[in-house]
Amino acid sequence: MSRVALVTGGTRGIGAAISKSLKSAGHKVAANYAGNDEAAAAFTRQTGIPTFKWNVADYEASKAGIAKVEADLGPVDIVIANAGITRDAPFHKMSPEQWHQVIDTNLTGVFNTVHPIWPGMRERKFGRVVVISSINGQKGQFAQVNYAATKAGDLGIIRSLAQEGARAGITANAVCPGYIATEMVMAVPEKVRESIIAQIPAGRLGEPEEIARCVSFLVSDDAGFINGSTISANGAQFFS
Ligand code: CAA
Repeated sequence: MSRVALVTGGTRGIGAAISKSLKSAGHKVAANYAGNDEAAAAFTRQTGIPTFKWNVADYEASKAGIAKVEADLGPVDIVIANAGITRDAPFHKMSPEQWHQVIDTNLTGVFNTVHPIWPGMRERKFGRVVVISSINGQKGQFAQVNYAATKAGDLGIIRSLAQEGARAGITANAVCPGYIATEMVMAVPEKVRESIIAQIPAGRLGEPEEIARCVSFLVSDDAGFINGSTISANGAQFFS
């Protein structure tokens, strides 16, 4: 069945792969992005998927952006809260600004994305919420006190939403990617990245499409009884 799907941070990295995969599954996809107009235009040229610009850290902007998506495409039945940033630093060097930027985007951004969509899902008695967490929310990570806090927080969000939405036909699940070959991981110093790959039993970084396939399954009608769960896709780097 074709539904309307919103993917935040949906024009680059894992989000772009998710947007494309949901489109291939027959859904009408809206890809949100915050800043990179050039990448968004190239993404639309390449995929035909429309993009919508707003900052997920801003509640009013999210509400207005989602209203525009719904006016253009129809009510959102599938929402993928994927937008995220890193501001890595060892804790003793981490500034309050680095803390707040990551909390505002990665954690409050999930609230800002799902909250305006939730009442409509409750009324229509159907919804699929997927939050893209991270292996580093499960295990913690040197230089990522801020990021790990948000990604662990995602798991609390979906476990709570799952209980609130279950009777209304809404599921809320998380995917915890390991280290995936995206710009975010490529931004890590090369030496550090090599040492990370050495810790992955699969011996390689994951591909964005490997995360997109997890999401496509979780949003399918077949996954209706999977609620409050976490799928880890990390090449056997960590088990929780
Ligand atoms: N474990 C233990 N020690 C580590 C370490 C680690 N993972 N990484 C760095 N260190 C140590 C270094 O060996 C060095 O030690 P010495 O001082 O004894 O030489 C020290 O920490 C580096 O300290 P600095 O004060 O010089 O650090 P810095 O201010 O220059 O910061 C850094 C460097 C930001 C930590 C950089 O090394 C870095 O970016 N590391 C990668 C962090 C990381 O893995 N981020 C994940 C990004 S990908 C992602 O987030 C996607 C996802 O969901 C998986």
